[in-house]
Amino acid sequence: MDKPFWAKYRREQLAHVHGEILEIGVGTGLNLPHYPTHVRKITTADPNPGMNKRLQRRIAETEINVDKRVISSEELPFDNETFDCVVSTLTLCSIPDREQAMGELFRVLRPSGRIHFLEHGISPDAKIAKWQRRLNWLQQRFSDGCSLLVDLPKLLATQPFASIEIDNFYMEQTPRTHGYMYRGTAQK
Ligand SMILES: C[S@@+](CC[C@H](N)C(=O)[O-])C[C@H]1O[C@@H](n2cnc3c(N)ncnc32)[C@H](O)[C@@H]1O
Repeated sequence: MDKPFWAKYRREQLAHVHGEILEIGVGTGLNLPHYPTHVRKITTADPNPGMNKRLQRRIAETEINVDKRVISSEELPFDNETFDCVVSTLTLCSIPDREQAMGELFRVLRPSGRIHFLEHGISPDAKIAKWQRRLNWLQQRFSDGCSLLVDLPKLLATQPFASIEIDNFYMEQTPRTHGYMYRGTAQK
C-alpha cells in the first residue's frame, strides 16, 4: 500500500474532496501527502492505536490539521450530517461490521455529501472469485482481518444513496485475487 504506484490512485481519489472531511481507517496516514492543497483540516477515525507512530510522523509532516480519533466506523461520535466528504481507501475490507459502518457513514454525511472510495473486493470473474473464497481465511488471519470478498455495490446498496459511480479495474503489480478495485463516489 505504500508502493509508489499507489500514490497516483490516492491522489486522483482525493482530488475533489472539500469542506468537512472524515477519513476512516487512516492507518499510518498514507493518504495525508495526497490531499489537495485547499484541504486545511480532516477528522480521522481508526480504532487501532498500533499505527500511531508512523501516523504521528506523517501528521507532523503535513500542514493539514488532523483531528485524530481512536474510534470505530461502526459507532461514530458525530452528529447527523456533519461531513461533506468521507474518504475510505483500503479500509472497508478491514471493518468487522461493514453494514453498520456504512449506515454510520451515511448518517454523518450532509445531504449531497459524498463517500470517496478506493477499495479492493470480490471479482466478477468466477475463477478469480473462487480463489478469493479459498484464500480468504489466510488473508483474514495474516492481514489483520482484511477480507477479499467485499461486494462494494451490495454494501453501498444498503443505504439510500442518490447516486453511485464506480470504476472497476485490476490494480497493477498486484495478484488478481487481491487487486480487483472499486474506485468512485457515492452521493447522499
Ligand atoms: C489496510 S489498512 C488501510 C489504511 C489506509 N486507509 C490506507 O489507505 O493505507 C486498514 C485500516 O482500517 C482500520 N480499521 C479496522 N477496523 C476499523 C473500523 N472498525 N473502523 C475504522 N477503521 C478500521 C485499520 O486499523 C487499518 O488502519
